[in-house]
Amino acid sequence: MTAFTLNGAQAAVSASGDTPLLYALRNELDCKSVRFGCGLEQCGCCAVLVDGEKAFACTLPVASVAGKSVETVEGLGAADRPHPIQQAFLDEQAGQCGYCLSGILMATKALLARNAQPTRADVVAALDDHLCRCGAHTRIVRAVLRAAAAVR
Ligand code: FES
Ligand code: FES
Repeated sequence: MTAFTLNGAQAAVSASGDTPLLYALRNELDCKSVRFGCGLEQCGCCAVLVDGEKAFACTLPVASVAGKSVETVEGLGAADRPHPIQQAFLDEQAGQCGYCLSGILMATKALLARNAQPTRADVVAALDDHLCRCGAHTRIVRAVLRAAAAVR
C-alpha cells in the first residue's frame, strides 16, 4: 500500500511499489487525465506534479511518491470552472486532439510557479520534453504566455 496526497485529498493504492505511478493513478484512482504515450520519458503526455515539480508518471515508481503531494489535471479545474491555464488554452484554441495537453498543462503550472513572467524562450525550454503529435506547438506556446499574463 502506498499513501500520498492526490489533488489535495488523501489517497492510497495497493499496486506494488515498483508499479509506474501512471498505472496506479489511472487504474486505482480513476485519474484518466494521465496518459500513456511512449512509456520512456520521451513524450511528456504522462506528466504530473510531485511536490510541485514535473515528473513523468510512466516511469516513476509509485513507492517514490509515498507521503508526497501529487497533482494532476483533475485538480486543476473542470469544464464549468476552468483554471486560468485551461482557459488560456481554450482561448488560443491550442488543443487539437488534446492527447498531449494533460502533461503540458501540468508543465505549465510548474513553470508559472517558478517563473511568473516567462519569455517565449522560457516556455519553449520548459516544454522541450513534450511532443504534440498534432503540431499545435505555436498555439500551445501562445497559450502558455496568455496563461502567464492571466495568473500574474
Ligand atoms: S508516456 Fe511518459 S513521457 Fe511518454
Ligand atoms: S493536440 Fe494532439 S497531440 Fe497535441
